[in-house]
Amino acid sequence: MHGAIAATALLGFSALVSAVPTPWGSNPPIQGQQAFKFPLSNGFPNISVPSGALTQIERQAHGSIPNSALPTNVSASALNSFRLIAFNEIFEVAYFTSLLNNVTSRVDGYEIGHAAARQVVLNALTAVQAQEELHALSANALLAANDVAPIQPCEYVFPVDCFEEAIALASTFTDVVLGTLADAQFNLGITRDTELISLIGSVIGQEGEQNGYYRALQNKIPSALPFLTTAAGPFAFSALNQLFVVPGSCPNVNTIGLPIFGALTVVTQDIQLKDQTLTFSIPANASTDGLSLVYINQQNVPVVEPLQNVNADSAGVTFQASFPAYTDFLEGLTIAAVTKSAGPFASADAVAAATLFGPGLIEIN
Ligand SMILES: *[C@@H]1O[C@H](CO)[C@@H](O)[C@H](O)[C@H]1NC(C)=O
Ligand SMILES: *[C@@H]1O[C@H](CO)[C@@H](O)[C@H](O)[C@H]1NC(C)=O
Ligand SMILES: *[C@@H]1O[C@H](CO)[C@@H](O)[C@H](O)[C@H]1NC(C)=O
Ligand SMILES: *[C@@H]1O[C@H](CO)[C@@H](O)[C@H](O)[C@H]1NC(C)=O
Repeated sequence: MHGAIAATALLGFSALVSAVPTPWGSNPPIQGQQAFKFPLSNGFPNISVPSGALTQIERQAHGSIPNSALPTNVSASALNSFRLIAFNEIFEVAYFTSLLNNVTSRVDGYEIGHAAARQVVLNALTAVQAQEELHALSANALLAANDVAPIQPCEYVFPVDCFEEAIALASTFTDVVLGTLADAQFNLGITRDTELISLIGSVIGQEGEQNGYYRALQNKIPSALPFLTTAAGPFAFSALNQLFVVPGSCPNVNTIGLPIFGALTVVTQDIQLKDQTLTFSIPANASTDGLSLVYINQQNVPVVEPLQNVNADSAGVTFQASFPAYTDFLEGLTIAAVTKSAGPFASADAVAAATLFGPGLIEIN
């Protein structure tokens, strides 16, 4: 019975798909789109713990915010990780609230014809929307318990206007988040914030379950890679700001001690699994002297490539770089970055420390 419902969910979606989903970096902003603004109708993000509003979110989320005492000896570095986590989770609440509203009210491009398939999607998004609220509230509660100002919401825009693009984009930003949370765990180990490591682990698994569903909806295999692509805080923070945040709309984004890189656009579309040359662009006045292009994929040593065929005009600087996708097994998420040195780089953190432009987000299969 459940198998039958899942199958109709996929059929309903496939029937709707009209275009191959494009990677995140190639989604242009939609002109004239109304920005998403908080608070939600339940008061989120200003929800007291405990309160009736919180209990309602927990019922919708199929579970509760952790009820054990929050550690009050959290390191400064971990607090900054949790500022970024709150910043990201609040964005995710905005995104899934908008997506759930669009499907619920059958907005043009978000209609799912098959009634049972539509209900499966609504059930999933209803839970996810509340689960993301709890992720955000728990990150902000940890900040508050350590006398740090909770992260406040920005206004957001979403560069998608149909269901299949929205799911493809959700899958890509979830991939970035998964890699970033693993990097946060690594740093929690260094700073001995041990009691937070399993908490983050529980969220990594949770977001991985979500992503298996978003991938299955796109008729992809649920698990992209044997070892997921690692990321780093500055890449996630830059991507969120470059793609979704209305500039100047964040009350306390300045408390997050992370850089926002220049934009790196992946110009090549529909990238397949083969060794090839890709085209990228960076802003018009950028100098390319001494720069390299670096790819981060899975748990492997970052791949460094020289810039080729650099071409600067008033619209921007374009260049090319080899992308050894087949030889180097670059499936799933690859994070591209333009760095000020040729490395070699031992880790995603080392790449981020040398990055000027990025991330460019490439998804294969
Ligand atoms: C949440 O409450 C704080 C403190 O009262 C207030 O400054 C902020 O504007 C509120 N946020 C929203 C989105 O309502
Ligand atoms: C919801 O629909 C509006 C109108 O088409 C669109 O601008 C917005 O990006 C959609 N939100 C999501 C998350 O897909
Ligand atoms: C906080 O205290 C707990 C319990 O004593 C300890 O395990 C943990 O390492 C401490 N965290 C930091 C960052 O010192
Ligand atoms: C490059 O251009 C951007 C906007 O087009 C501007 O903000 C920035 O200051 C410029 N940088 C240099 C080095 O001229």
